[in-house]
Amino acid sequence: MGMRHMGGAGTGCAAQPRESGLLDQLALVEPELENRLREGMGRAEKWLRATADDASDPRVCAVTGHLAGAGGKRLRPLLVLLGAEFGDPWRDGITQAAVIAELVHIASLHHDDVMDGAPTRHGVPSAHARFGERTAVLGGDWLLARAAQLAAELGPEAVRINARAAGSLVAGQLRELTGPAPGEPPVTHYFQVIAGKTAALLSMSLGVGALQAGAPERSVTALTEYGEQLGLAFQIADDLLDLSAPAEHTGKERGTDLLGGVPTLPVLLALESDDPADAELRELLAAGPVPAASARRALELFARSPALAETEAVLRRRLDRARAALDVLPQLPARHALLALCDYVAHRTS
Ligand code: IPE
Ligand code: IPE
Ligand code: MG
Ligand code: MG
Repeated sequence: MGMRHMGGAGTGCAAQPRESGLLDQLALVEPELENRLREGMGRAEKWLRATADDASDPRVCAVTGHLAGAGGKRLRPLLVLLGAEFGDPWRDGITQAAVIAELVHIASLHHDDVMDGAPTRHGVPSAHARFGERTAVLGGDWLLARAAQLAAELGPEAVRINARAAGSLVAGQLRELTGPAPGEPPVTHYFQVIAGKTAALLSMSLGVGALQAGAPERSVTALTEYGEQLGLAFQIADDLLDLSAPAEHTGKERGTDLLGGVPTLPVLLALESDDPADAELRELLAAGPVPAASARRALELFARSPALAETEAVLRRRLDRARAALDVLPQLPARHALLALCDYVAHRTS
């Protein structure tokens, strides 16, 4: 798409953010922790926006700043700050690590929305809907490059971790496109996909925060495992939201995965189900991406499908594993916040 489509008033650079409110939902009881997290999130937010808007040409900045300016929950920066609580949270480089994690996330949203043909993100047109696919992909690449540049300032360990998370993310997305290998059970394949595309970055965010704060190795390991399990649960909850949550809550169009033929966990479990209650749904899903005319019916069928209850049970089991990973951590207020985050994911509405 030509540059003539990119500039002008009302670009992403000027967009009003949607309030994330994630910290409010955790209902933290320890004021010192809450203040530190609020201040840290505020610093990270300013830095993130300045970075995303920092491309020298304002027309390029309209692309790179589009999604950052439209908000988001900022879960990954929060995870970096929470990880840092298990060391010295005042150390240098922690806010920077939080910004890096969100830049990688936003880059992945650019690419993911092209993959999924998603029309909206953060309540605004997705980057490709607004600027075209080629531009959106390049904008995502620019954000990844900026993340790498910031990581280089933190040192080789940060570069290594950042590169590994970005690599896992892309490999997860690629695996989603390739589908299961011959003979590979679809649900096994699904877990490999989501471990890469979602859990790796959540896990890395906690681990890098803890490392940057000089937390003991035992804590870093526990936080990384917690992040992995939380990340898997987070993606399963996200798959459920595609079937149930209105766009006003998520900022994305309900049913995007269904229309795009994305093999989410509820879809796979419905396809595997031999419950007669799932027969009509199975037939609809087995034909490939659900046609727009049948989407409403598919959503209705899902609402009362046993596959949905089964997906919720899988989600709960992953959260149990996440909680168990916290056992070895010291009893700090941040540990309670991580427990609260599990409840948040269990009841996620956005
Ligand atoms: C969306 O993540 C992509 C997934 C990994 C499911 P978020 O739900 O954290 O995205 P934000 O909060 O809208 O940025
Ligand atoms: C998340 O998967 C993948 C990313 C790495 C962004 P989804 O495709 O489910 O994410 P949403 O639903 O579009 O946010
Ligand atoms: Mg998507
Ligand atoms: Mg999704």
